Amino acid sequence: MLVKELEKRIKSKEAKIAVIGLGYVGLPLAVSFARAGFKVYGLDKSEARVLRIKTGKNYNEDVSLPEITRLIHKKVFELSTNPSLLVKADVIIICVPTPLKTKYTPDISYIVGAVKDIRKYMRKGAFVILESTTFPGTTEELIKPLLERGGLKASRDFYLAFSPERIDPGNKHFSVTQIPKIIGGLDPAAGKLGKALYGKIIKKVHLVSSPRAAEMTKLLENSFRLVNISWVNELAMMCHKLHIDIWEIIEAAKTKPFGFMPFYPSLGVGGHCIPDDPLYLYWKAKHHGISSKFIKLSADTNDRVPDYVLSRLKTLLHVQRTRKARARILVAGVTYKKDVKDLRRSPALKFITLLQKEGYDVNYFDPLVSFLKIGHLNMKSVSLNAKEISKADCVVVAVAHTKVNYDLILDKAQSIFDLCNVYQGQNKATIHRL
Ligand SMILES: NC(=O)c1ccc[n+]([C@@H]2O[C@H](COP(=O)([O-])OP(=O)(O)OC[C@H]3O[C@@H](n4cnc5c(N)ncnc54)[C@H](O)[C@@H]3O)[C@@H](O)[C@H]2O)c1
Repeated sequence: MLVKELEKRIKSKEAKIAVIGLGYVGLPLAVSFARAGFKVYGLDKSEARVLRIKTGKNYNEDVSLPEITRLIHKKVFELSTNPSLLVKADVIIICVPTPLKTKYTPDISYIVGAVKDIRKYMRKGAFVILESTTFPGTTEELIKPLLERGGLKASRDFYLAFSPERIDPGNKHFSVTQIPKIIGGLDPAAGKLGKALYGKIIKKVHLVSSPRAAEMTKLLENSFRLVNISWVNELAMMCHKLHIDIWEIIEAAKTKPFGFMPFYPSLGVGGHCIPDDPLYLYWKAKHHGISSKFIKLSADTNDRVPDYVLSRLKTLLHVQRTRKARARILVAGVTYKKDVKDLRRSPALKFITLLQKEGYDVNYFDPLVSFLKIGHLNMKSVSLNAKEISKADCVVVAVAHTKVNYDLILDKAQSIFDLCNVYQGQNKATIHRL
């Protein structure tokens, strides 16, 4: 009976949706549902974040500020730090962080915190969905019993599912509503509800047999990226020793119309997902007696890339005969990837720390990051002008943001260490490639 009523409310868009966690995942999702005509409550523990969104000071490239303001004025999007609003929700979607406690141990405290709030306020007949990336079993083994401790029973008094978010921040071709959605319900009713719900904003919804199947699907995707990016970085190291241009090799391999997918060398993988999520799987597998060599090797290889780049830079400066006691290095681009502001787990931060430790005079330029705090180190982005570029003994292009004057760097730099192949096809002697 409850499920029929909820399905009806979803189909007519009368269902009220609460999104917990308004970060890179939760905010675009909440906006998509509000845009589609649902009443959405956006909840975040961080007052600063809620205030930023309310006052139009954005941190997220994937949502439009005027649209958020319009949705707030229309009263279809309500933002709050108060979890008691959950009592009004038919659907509750959890989008909180899932970092690591230590290198190989998941920190699921944010999920537990959100679930405890839900347990306190959830009403009978509600549909709870976890979107945060986590190890297989989280929804069934952790969330279900935690929620049931409140007295309601899963599949009878509330519905439960896992649906991984697959958003790629900064991707202009695939936004949250254009990426097919995976959903795994605890029972067929939850799967059906999930299909109906996401079907309102996303064209393709793919139902899997269980929450753990949906959790594992996301980990397959993210581990696939970590393994392959780490592999291509190792290959880049080999190619350098063998006097082969890795970029040329990838371009050539790409001509194969099947069975190959390109990955590119870099300073390493960063962000909140790819470096950490596979370690959730590593941890879970270990509890079942399997030590995933692939995941461990890839994570360790990834962690070593900034050290490798540093060793290459040292050689380059030596060959250049930089006689100054402290060579001046300008790092261009510090975020974890191109055209996003996110600095989480950015390998550029580790690289800058290594440069500092070696005694280099380090500056950075990033059009998206005006200030940088790494431990006790506070830095301010320099302006990218002829004087700053020519003062540097080497400009390291660490992240290739679109709106950067690479021609000016090429024109004025004493030398360039191009980690991103922005100078593809150019043969000036000052350019050095990864
Ligand atoms: N960033 C990505 O590209 C991406 C892509 C796909 C999946 N994911 C996954 O989605 C999840 C969220 O990632 P994100 O990048 O959006 O994180 P984020 O840090 O940008 O945002 C999470 C938000 O949740 C809030 N929060 C934490 N606990 C809360 C609670 N109990 N109640 C209310 N708010 C709470 C935090 O204040 C923060 O604003 C993670 O599991 C991540 O792995 C991220």
